Amino acid sequence: VDLIIKNAKIFVQDRVIESCLAINDGKIVAIGVESKMPRSDSVLKGNGKLVIPGLIDVHVHFRDPGFTHKEDFKTGTAAAAAGGVTTIIDEPNNIPPTYDITALKEKMKIAEKKAVIDYSFSYGLNTNNLDDIEQVHSMGISSFDIFTGGFSDQLSIKNPGIILEALSKVKEIGAITCLTCGDSMLNNYTTEKMKNKGRRDINAYSEASLTVSEGLGVARNLLLANSISSKLHLRQITNRNALNVLKKLKNNNKVTSEVSPFYLFLNTKNIEKLGPFGKVGPSIKPKKEMEATWFAFVNGEIDIIATDHAPHTREEKEQGKEDIWKAPPGLPCIESMLPLLLTQVNKGRIGIKRIIEATSELPAKIFGLYPKKGTIQIGSDADLTLVDLNAKGIIEGKSSHSKIDWTPFEGFRFLGRPVTTLVRGVKVFDDFDIIGSPGYGKFVPSMNIR
Ligand code: DOR
Repeated sequence: VDLIIKNAKIFVQDRVIESCLAINDGKIVAIGVESKMPRSDSVLKGNGKLVIPGLIDVHVHFRDPGFTHKEDFKTGTAAAAAGGVTTIIDEPNNIPPTYDITALKEKMKIAEKKAVIDYSFSYGLNTNNLDDIEQVHSMGISSFDIFTGGFSDQLSIKNPGIILEALSKVKEIGAITCLTCGDSMLNNYTTEKMKNKGRRDINAYSEASLTVSEGLGVARNLLLANSISSKLHLRQITNRNALNVLKKLKNNNKVTSEVSPFYLFLNTKNIEKLGPFGKVGPSIKPKKEMEATWFAFVNGEIDIIATDHAPHTREEKEQGKEDIWKAPPGLPCIESMLPLLLTQVNKGRIGIKRIIEATSELPAKIFGLYPKKGTIQIGSDADLTLVDLNAKGIIEGKSSHSKIDWTPFEGFRFLGRPVTTLVRGVKVFDDFDIIGSPGYGKFVPSMNIR
């Protein structure tokens, strides 16, 4: 076979076993004791490291095409590999926006040449393109995003009637609709009031973003989905208001939800220091909300974590130093998510099993990639992340593989990091270096998720 990983602690069927793993033609072909392994000329010594399924990040903004001064498919996927991520799903807010089939095909060609890891796309829905859904799905795409606010009308749907129509069409073909929460009218109202008061500081940005706005958004989205029994994936849950509504209205297993690291590891105290480098939509919340969101993530009320990696340049962010409204929202974090989570494992605040479930198994199941991706079992793609739980360090923007050299987690200490990432059995990241080639990454068509 092509490769054997020896002397590793491998996460198989819900537990960690000391074992070996054989890979051939990009697939896992054997797991077991050394004496039962097939022969191979190539051996990767695990040295007791933990082997987990490669992370599947279902929410990234790689900016290509349109904003390649911030990130592109090469740098975005390189940073992902360095963060232990082996598959991403890219968001549609590009120029041209991925809201028509020509734009989607163009983006597919770009990714094909540049991606270091595997990928898929999310197609954006607006009031004019619901008839595309079937064709997009036939191209292997199962993720459809609806932005409900914060974007132009071309990139969002605000009318609940049209959201309902979209949910119904996506349901018919057996795919998944992802909705951002928040009430755009309420957000605009509170933002205008803040601006009229002359407030220009980062706290004003946070104060203008009421937790009830997210609660309203979760309620609307859930009631719409429940009324036709459709699947629904709720993006970016950040506070107790949203969580309470989610708990009360989630009456079946068709609804899943997501959080990003910003809402688990940053609170309003941090962003007072970060200023525009802490501006993200939805906004970072006070510590009490952060703690409640963490608890909901640990116990599975929030199903998965995705990075929402949304880089902007230092210069773009600095425009908000005097006037926060001038800075674009969005923060990078694709390289820091796994070290941040592993640190919490080492502190005993969360188990490794829950981390694997939330970063790979459930994302793969929700987005129709399982069991090709998201699990270590015979026949699955050999997408593997080797983790050193004893590696210590400090998160620094300057050592990032992204185009962006800053991070909102600058100076955070970590204990545990990915040290080697394999995509379909080939090393793409090792120690601190990207060794995968642009163009190696492949489009992963999703299966039906009805
Ligand atoms: O803060 C954000 N920035 N939130 C989003 O949902 C989009 C993102 C971006 O693309 O910059």
